[in-house]
Amino acid sequence: MFPGPTLEVNNGDTLVVNVVNQIKYNITIHWHGVRQMRTAWADGPEFVTQCPVKPGSSYTYKFTIEGQEGTLWWHAHSTWLRATVYGAILIYPKEGSSYPFPKPRRETPILLGEWWDANPIDVLRESIRTGGAPNISDAYTINGQPGDLYNCSSKETAIIPIDAGETNLLRVINAALNQPLFFTIANHPFTVVGADASYVKPFTTTVIMLGPGQTTDVLIAGNQIPSRYYIAATAYQSAQNAAFDNSTATAILEYKAAPCPAKKQSNPIMPILPAFNDTAAVTAFSASFRSLKEVNIPKEIDEDLFVTVGLGLNDCPPGPNGTRFTSSMNNVSFVLPQTTSLLQAYQTDTPGVFTTDFPDRPPVRFDYTGNVDRSLWQPIQGTKVYRLEYGSRVQVVLQDTSIVTAENHPIHLHGYDFYILAEGFGNFDPDVDTGKFNLVDPPLRNTAAVPAGGWAVIRFVADNPGMWIMHCHLDVHISWGLAMAFLVEDGNEVMQTLEAPPLDLPVC
Ligand code: C2O
Repeated sequence: MFPGPTLEVNNGDTLVVNVVNQIKYNITIHWHGVRQMRTAWADGPEFVTQCPVKPGSSYTYKFTIEGQEGTLWWHAHSTWLRATVYGAILIYPKEGSSYPFPKPRRETPILLGEWWDANPIDVLRESIRTGGAPNISDAYTINGQPGDLYNCSSKETAIIPIDAGETNLLRVINAALNQPLFFTIANHPFTVVGADASYVKPFTTTVIMLGPGQTTDVLIAGNQIPSRYYIAATAYQSAQNAAFDNSTATAILEYKAAPCPAKKQSNPIMPILPAFNDTAAVTAFSASFRSLKEVNIPKEIDEDLFVTVGLGLNDCPPGPNGTRFTSSMNNVSFVLPQTTSLLQAYQTDTPGVFTTDFPDRPPVRFDYTGNVDRSLWQPIQGTKVYRLEYGSRVQVVLQDTSIVTAENHPIHLHGYDFYILAEGFGNFDPDVDTGKFNLVDPPLRNTAAVPAGGWAVIRFVADNPGMWIMHCHLDVHISWGLAMAFLVEDGNEVMQTLEAPPLDLPVC
């Protein structure tokens, strides 16, 4: 199936998913946004919490949904296989409880993706060979189809049903590999009610933007003339001068159960699309998110990290054109181990697989608004993790470096949700920007779209033992090293609360 099967569960359910690898590549599956409390072995990132599932073998992921409601998703977490291996996870309220909004008559997952007329693994390999940027995709997709603006897709365009006179819930997921996307529907404004499986204070908007990895739940009212309306996804070009596909993927919103049958017009109504570079709209949209209720956020912090996110150029080894693209956090370009996972290496005390010296700030402070000295463009390589004492209260300032180009980076943390206290442009300035923190009802997310040329401040409590990767969810950037990992442990009791590794855990 493409997209893959939808998992429908309730908050509180335990899932047992047997993954059988029937393809010719190694693969792992990640349950994006699932907190995986004490079950780090089921998280899925290749060489972080497990070795890959080899062709012909299998691995059973077992985990429980604890306190999360809304929409998450699952995807391959090996090289670029998630280009085609992904699906939705719909988490309904706990048995016996209900939504904090009127019960929708119909709920539909909408997965936005990217399509290459090529094997995405080959696209990645070619870019690594040349050191240049990989080819951009040939189309965006909605539930696997580019839509009827493309001849190849005209018969199979996704149809999203809607009930006249009823409230409908759309669960929108950006599964694209490398592209933040705008999403809109003609004549049907959205009421946003959730994001990343947390409820938010409802707000209305006609367009939403999702960075890769993010999900947004919206209500739409079936109050228009029963007919057919275009649903559209287009690129948000969040980096200057970066190549992107400026085409539009479409699906059709089609009224069901209408008093009289929907008219099959040849031309459904087209929505007004934002400009591809409408950063002002994106900024206003992301500032609208508030947690539904007041939250209990740590007011004091034990760990105060400043982490740069950005690109670089590497002359060592040089690409055919002299340099190759790279990327880093705090000037460290993350290298995955090849022969064991970080978590296994930790548990078995295997030396030499990783070091715990990921720096809590960049080696030098500089001006992050451009014109960065070329000597700062070349990161070092390393498998460096940052150790967090179990239970510590952590703040991370994520700062785009604007090296090579300013770009919106969707930064995703495994094993945790975090509060986004504030976002802004330019250099984060603690003296001024700390005053802007929302400590009352900040949104709880697993992926923060750090503004291009700007910063975001996140906070969480390290209450989940394990090895947790934090990375840019643009796959091209993770391939270039835009990642690090947190080791959350209790120094005395050696992660006594982490469950033992499953017997079928793949070994390298
Ligand atoms: Cu959705 Cu590490 O990824």
